[in-house]
Amino acid sequence: MSALEDLRKEIVVCTRCKTLVASRTQVVPGDGAEDAPVMFVGEAPGFNEDKQGIPFVGQAGSFLNELLAFINLKREQIFITNIIKCRPPENREPLPYEIQNCRPWLDGQIAAIKPKVIVLLGRYAMASFLPDKSISKVHGTAQKVNGITYFAMYHPAAALYQQSLKETLKNDMLKLGAILADKPDVSETKPQTQQLSMF
Ligand code: URA
Repeated sequence: MSALEDLRKEIVVCTRCKTLVASRTQVVPGDGAEDAPVMFVGEAPGFNEDKQGIPFVGQAGSFLNELLAFINLKREQIFITNIIKCRPPENREPLPYEIQNCRPWLDGQIAAIKPKVIVLLGRYAMASFLPDKSISKVHGTAQKVNGITYFAMYHPAAALYQQSLKETLKNDMLKLGAILADKPDVSETKPQTQQLSMF
């Protein structure tokens, strides 16, 4: 069995955060390819993710899938997870001790997958890896820390509330595509004509 599968078996029975154990339907460990070149890290499972045990399956997930399609990435080619693996009650924000308790699981997943790039979706994921940065300043740029390339983006759910972020997210996704293709000058990517259909 793979290191990632071993880890998954441990994650799904985690009882480190009593409140989350009581409120969750199930743990949402993460989903995708064991050898993914790119790993996406979101905030926390929501209602649909808690029911299905898979991250990003709700509205934000549909929008993310659409963004991935701009750079010809399919969900099965990436690995996707969250900084905390259980849904907080009423979708509240993750608490610092929950993020801390869950961090070894995330670190274990990163060690097993060894992605080329880690995409940080939203301010909670970003604060966990790039604590001194502001998302409004660094979104759409690559930051190399201890040999790992991090790429921060706004959370796709943010575009549900703020329409103007849709275009920003799309442009940032194109920049990520260029980095993954080793062509970080985004002007070298093929012009995209496809329109975002959602929202
Ligand atoms: N938002 C997240 O941050 N993660 C999910 O899995 C779903 C929505």
